Amino acid sequence: MPSRRMLLAQAASLAGAALTPAAWTAAAAQTRLADDPFQLGVASGEPTPDGMVLWTRLAPKPQEMGSGMTPAPVAVRWEIAGDEGLKRIVAKGQALAVAEAGHSVHVEVQGLRPGRDYWYRFTAGGHASPVGRTRTAPAPGAVVERLRIAYSSCQKYSAGFYSAHAGIAAEAPDLVLFLGDYIYEGAADGKGVRPHPVEEPVDLAGYRQRYAWYKADPDLQAAHAAAPWMVIWDDHEVANDYGDDQDRSNPPPDVFLKRRAAAYQAFYENMPLRRTQRPVGPSLLLYRSLAWGNLAGLQFLDTRQYRNHRTCEAVSDGKRIPADCPERFDPARSLLGAPQETWLQGQFRASQARWNLLAQQYLMGEFAGEGGKKVGNDGWDGYVQTRRRVMEGWRDAKVSNPVVLGGDIHCFFAGDLAMAPGGKALASEFVGGSISSLGRPNIDIVQRLGWNPHLKFGDGETRGYGRLDITPKACTVTFRGVENALVSRSPMRDLARFVVEDGEAGLKRA
Ligand SMILES: [Fe+2]
Repeated sequence: MPSRRMLLAQAASLAGAALTPAAWTAAAAQTRLADDPFQLGVASGEPTPDGMVLWTRLAPKPQEMGSGMTPAPVAVRWEIAGDEGLKRIVAKGQALAVAEAGHSVHVEVQGLRPGRDYWYRFTAGGHASPVGRTRTAPAPGAVVERLRIAYSSCQKYSAGFYSAHAGIAAEAPDLVLFLGDYIYEGAADGKGVRPHPVEEPVDLAGYRQRYAWYKADPDLQAAHAAAPWMVIWDDHEVANDYGDDQDRSNPPPDVFLKRRAAAYQAFYENMPLRRTQRPVGPSLLLYRSLAWGNLAGLQFLDTRQYRNHRTCEAVSDGKRIPADCPERFDPARSLLGAPQETWLQGQFRASQARWNLLAQQYLMGEFAGEGGKKVGNDGWDGYVQTRRRVMEGWRDAKVSNPVVLGGDIHCFFAGDLAMAPGGKALASEFVGGSISSLGRPNIDIVQRLGWNPHLKFGDGETRGYGRLDITPKACTVTFRGVENALVSRSPMRDLARFVVEDGEAGLKRA
């Protein structure tokens, strides 16, 4: 007979799994929680034609270290229905929320019908969660007439309120993409419109608290509860401008990788990811693809984990490098790492979709400053040949209608991508602004547009998100701006609209 200690270890190793030792499940099911444990809301993600991931994380006191949970496991029941009132339950079950996984739950639902809305909820400790809406992807190759996507990035909590997320929720999109900087790791500096934890997180407890603080926001919760999300990260989920085993402050690599492992674990615990995406030490497989019938294929990139270190540091002013620094053209350098590049090229060759969306962290086209003399070395401009290889991949595989979505820069930008400066457009890209993180003054943006003629539109002063309305004939992109992100519940407005027509590369103002 297994000992109590062994059962504990087994329960821990199952970390949120649906199947658990019966004895522990029974004990955990009887747990009563004094305070509502669902204060971080619910989420869904990773939709497939027959299911998706349902997520929650128990946190009765979100702003405290440990979120108000004891180390005991807690049984969480889940149910998913074909109607908003949860009368027609189509699947249900129980998962165990364990302390080793921050009391998070990742349920992988299967056996649902393709291209349908579903509603779900959790119960635990005598409490019920809010109801979330989610959706399955269409059947493989199915004829799909329309797809609405909202996408966003960069939600520095102290810098502004999340009216943009309330806007996303109101769109009732089929899918939400979050392209990085879900949290900011920085210490509280006393500036900004609302406070967050004081200490900069460097371990799992610290990152967990930072996520709990952010996720307690009701507008962010509304956006999660409105549609399935696909998430990728940028740098601030770990540390500013990090890549591989290095960040700007250059700690010893083994020290940095320990921090990265803690940050990746907290990321996994707080996102609607699959259990197969659970990190192993400092590694988490985040690049992946998603098909939406015959209409759209999406590839999601990880430009942080596998990159070569920043180039031309000897001639850097701390942020920017001379545009003619030869090392940045070195074909041996990669922003993605060889395995991810090989995977991406395979995706290009295999794609049957009419629209091919590349979801990644940055502005992908060149972003020259100082009259064209300087570029940054944190993004694609530091890895010129990776950018060239991606564009050659689109061209050589005759990828249908490539469109790039990005974040990171805290501005809205729309532009075209070509193999050579001034050449024929091969793809268009749309950076969908930031939810709350502060950008650049528009006087600077106007100057940048002059130095970078492939960029057709920019706005650095407005916070918001991007909306894609995709049909077989066109991809319409609307930049949605918040009137004032420094106050809560500010109204949204259309900032600009663009269209890319099927078979005709290059964006037009609409
Ligand atoms: Fe950011």
